[in-house]
Parts: sequence; structure tokens; C-alpha cells
Amino acid sequence: MDIFLDSSKLEEIKKWMEEGVVDGVTTNPSIMFKDGVRDLEACTRGICAVVGERPVSVEVTTNDHAEMLEQARAFANWSPHIVIKIPIVNQDGISSLGVIHKLTNQNIAVNATAILSFNQAVLAVKAGATYVSIFAGRVADEGNDPAVTVRNVRSWLDMWGYTAKIIVGSIRAVIDVQSAALAGAHIVTIPPQFLPKMVDHKYTRETVRQFNEDATKVVAEISRAKAAAAD
Ligand code: E4P
Repeated sequence: MDIFLDSSKLEEIKKWMEEGVVDGVTTNPSIMFKDGVRDLEACTRGICAVVGERPVSVEVTTNDHAEMLEQARAFANWSPHIVIKIPIVNQDGISSLGVIHKLTNQNIAVNATAILSFNQAVLAVKAGATYVSIFAGRVADEGNDPAVTVRNVRSWLDMWGYTAKIIVGSIRAVIDVQSAALAGAHIVTIPPQFLPKMVDHKYTRETVRQFNEDATKVVAEISRAKAAAAD
């Protein structure tokens, strides 16, 4: 399973790249707005420079399908590793499948985003999306179990041999990462604030402290033994 960072914060991306756990990055207009990004191109190019050949998802910023196509073609020129996020429908509920299909036919990788149901994922895959982003937190907001959606989409992909990958986003807590991973997500995109919580454990700290104390005791005993032998 791959881990993507759901962030546009360069410092966080660099930090977790150095830890060796980042396979890609996802952003969206809300993340960029919250992170203080005001130049989409400069920010996206900066992220691409840090992550090298790993995929970087950048979302269109318009509700109009013709403009989505124009933006997508422009964004795709910034780096060969850009993936264009297209919401499965626009804010008026009009299908974006045609946009996904056209971009795919032009060899532009698409991340079909804002997916909340099995059927949306199926159609996005049929239209040619490389990734389908299932929003776990928002599925749960609606009273549904995101693990069931992820598991069903994964079974369907595997049953028919589709190569599209499931990204689970909208992670709201550490447990959501575990649920997505065990439900069959190919990728979980994680806001960086959850990674320190995932790696740390208070009992691990206590265990390591005990090892360090005993190592110190052994070193002290060895030096005492050496000193006694030299007397
Ligand atoms: C990732 O691709 C999504 O855009 C993101 O995880 C959405 O998260 P949210 O539901 O917290 O806005």
C-alpha cells in the first residue's frame, strides 16, 4: 500500500520524504487555501521538485467543464508527474465523466475526486480515471461506513481486472488510516499531523527507555571491570 501526503506544506513534505514514507502527494483548493498558498503553479512545481517522480495530484479550480479541460491541460505541462483531480460531478450535479474520459484519451492522468459511493467509483473507473479518491470522512458524515465502500470498490476492481487505484482521503483520525488500509485501499492520503501520532506510542518510549538504562548499566559495569583489572 502506498502513502500519500494530503498537504501542500513543503516543509512537511520534505520532512516525511526524508523519513522514507511518502509515495505521492494530494492537494485540493481547500488544503492550499488553509496552507496559505496563493500561487497554485509555484506551489505545485515546488512539491514536484521535492517528490521527484512520485505523483502529485492537483485539482481544477472551476465548476465549468470546458474550463476544467483547459486547466487540466495547462497543469499537466508543469510536470510529467502531475495527476489532475476532477470532481466526479460539478457543484450542480452535472457529470464530469466526459472530462475524465477526454483527459485520459489525451494521456493525462486523472484522479476522480469527491467520490462518496460505490457507483460513482465504478463510473469514474469506466471513464478511464487512473485513481478514484473515496472521501472516508465525508462518507462517514453521511452515516455510512467508508470501509464497506472501499472494500466493495476494491473487490469490483479486482473481479474485473481494472488497474485503477483507490485513494482513500478525508482522513479525520489515525483509526481512519487503519480502517482504509485493511479495507483494501491501494493508497491512503494522510494529512501530515497524523503521522507523528502513527509512529509514536507511550509504551514504546518506556520500552526504549528501559533498554537505554540497561545499556548504560552494562557500559558502567564494563568500565568498572576494566578499571579493576588495571589495578
Ligand atoms: C484528498 O485527496 C482529499 O481532497 C481530501 O482528503 C479531502 O479531505 P476533507 O474531506 O477533509 O476535505
